[in-house]
Amino acid sequence: TRQAKQPENAKTKEMDMNREFAEGEFMATNHGVRINNDQDSLKAGARGASLLEDFILREKITHFDHERIPERVVHARGSGAHGVFKVYESLSNLTKADFLQHPELETPVFVRFSTVAGSRGSTDLARDVRGFAVKFYTREGNFDLVGNNMPIFFIQDALKFPDLVHAVKPEPDNEIPQAASAHDTFWDFISLMPESTHMVMWLMSDRAIPRSYRMMEGFGVHTFRFVNAQGESNFVKFHWKPLLGVHAVAWDEAQNISGKDPDFHRRDLWDAIERGAFPEWELGIQVVPEADEHRFDFDLLDPTKIIPEELVPVQRVGKLTLNRNPDNFFAETEQAAFHIGHVVPGIDFTNDPLLQGRLFSYTDTQLIRLGGPNFQEIPINRPIAQVHNNQRDGYMRQTINKGKSSYDPNSLGGGYPAQAPAADGGFTSYPERIDAHKIRARSKSFFDHFSQARLFYYSQSEPEKNHLIDAFSFELGKVKTVAVRQRMIGILSLVDRSLAAAVAHALRLPVPDAPEQPVNHSFPADADPAEYQPIQV
Ligand code: HEM
Repeated sequence: TRQAKQPENAKTKEMDMNREFAEGEFMATNHGVRINNDQDSLKAGARGASLLEDFILREKITHFDHERIPERVVHARGSGAHGVFKVYESLSNLTKADFLQHPELETPVFVRFSTVAGSRGSTDLARDVRGFAVKFYTREGNFDLVGNNMPIFFIQDALKFPDLVHAVKPEPDNEIPQAASAHDTFWDFISLMPESTHMVMWLMSDRAIPRSYRMMEGFGVHTFRFVNAQGESNFVKFHWKPLLGVHAVAWDEAQNISGKDPDFHRRDLWDAIERGAFPEWELGIQVVPEADEHRFDFDLLDPTKIIPEELVPVQRVGKLTLNRNPDNFFAETEQAAFHIGHVVPGIDFTNDPLLQGRLFSYTDTQLIRLGGPNFQEIPINRPIAQVHNNQRDGYMRQTINKGKSSYDPNSLGGGYPAQAPAADGGFTSYPERIDAHKIRARSKSFFDHFSQARLFYYSQSEPEKNHLIDAFSFELGKVKTVAVRQRMIGILSLVDRSLAAAVAHALRLPVPDAPEQPVNHSFPADADPAEYQPIQV
């Protein structure tokens, strides 16, 4: 049974204007005409023929025919919930973001958890990365923290994202396997893409099969910037720490649960919120002063690297509580449009090339997924902050903009000034100085693909290490092309010889004698071959 009274916040109240509740009401057509008989179509005589005139039949069937929209190209399977966020103490020394200044201020949020590879109807229990997307409806506009439950990513440059996703998704000829990474195209790509090694260590670990969405960490992955009112900038990594702790299920448990209840995570989240056991996470930040940008033996702009917590501790600065289920899955969870480019004053980007490419991708995909340029007006996406600008028209426009002019500058009134005093607020991009040649290449500081993969492996307990070995053995055991299996064992030998030997043993394959230098397709045109030699496998 649903809680009698669902907790309200500024955003859920604002959405009331769109809520509809039919119980006890008369049925009507979409143009408001009451319907007395919704079961028999209009016919010439009781046995037909049916009449084209029947606008009730035509309207009902037409709407039904158009009910589906495309699922997300990735992260198609997901579950959402409303909640609130509060900062513990003002972070004004680091950022001017309003929602991080006032401990008494409750900022409404909508969160969507997801798997990445499977389609909308796939199982929750797949071995996969989980999305952890948070939309903060702040007084200064929406801030979306579009993260995952793993702190790193497969690739260093967004230009490779379509290749990664084509390799991960079911194979193009037979659409097999659904929601699983145990197949040739995935491991072919991974074994040719050494930068993905750290991420596949996480993917083969217990982190990839969470016990519950409520028991997962979340990470913003990229290094972002905080900017304070004085214009000073610090680098920042975002974390979510679940107060229930981090828990996983074992692989055989996952398979059992999958068979019995593919909605296991969705149901768990829904039921917990319904019974008032509201899931909570603390927001964590790792802050690196600008002056320390080059202090580490990895590049802060490289999204395949963590900042080890021993080097920069995570400070817990606020709390997120999910306390209300959506009223309607499609209207809220499915139509939610997260975008890493939705930032507010005080939060800014870095030059991480994966982050930069994402800035393009989200709005672009939502233009087709949600049918045109006005999806920001959909209730779940619309900010609680006011929206005034000169953008107009387009499919499904809801806003009725008054006034004669929709351009700037204008002298007739009605438009909005292009320039407002800085003191009135507004987003100003951090004026980072850039002086460089245009070049398609990667910095050498991005080339160490194995140290952190090894660090991760060594951080695991013995049972966890065994789970990793079992996962690699199981997954690679499904790969039909022996050369791909062998190449992957070569990669693993660069992480740890005993890991490679254990997987090779399970697959009855040899371990390469000397670690083999893997192919790297991003060999920069101007690189010094003495420093960096790709070797063909
Ligand atoms: C969707 C995270 C990299 C393109 C998502 C979602 C999450 C996410 C959580 C689901 C949002 C939701 O619940 O609606 C990440 C993370 C990345 C990453 C953490 C790396 C650090 C990329 C890259 C691209 C990309 C590199 C493209 C260049 C997309 C697209 C969607 C999506 C197209 C579907 C969005 C929609 O249909 O609304 N991503 N992603 N992602 N992501 Fe990413």
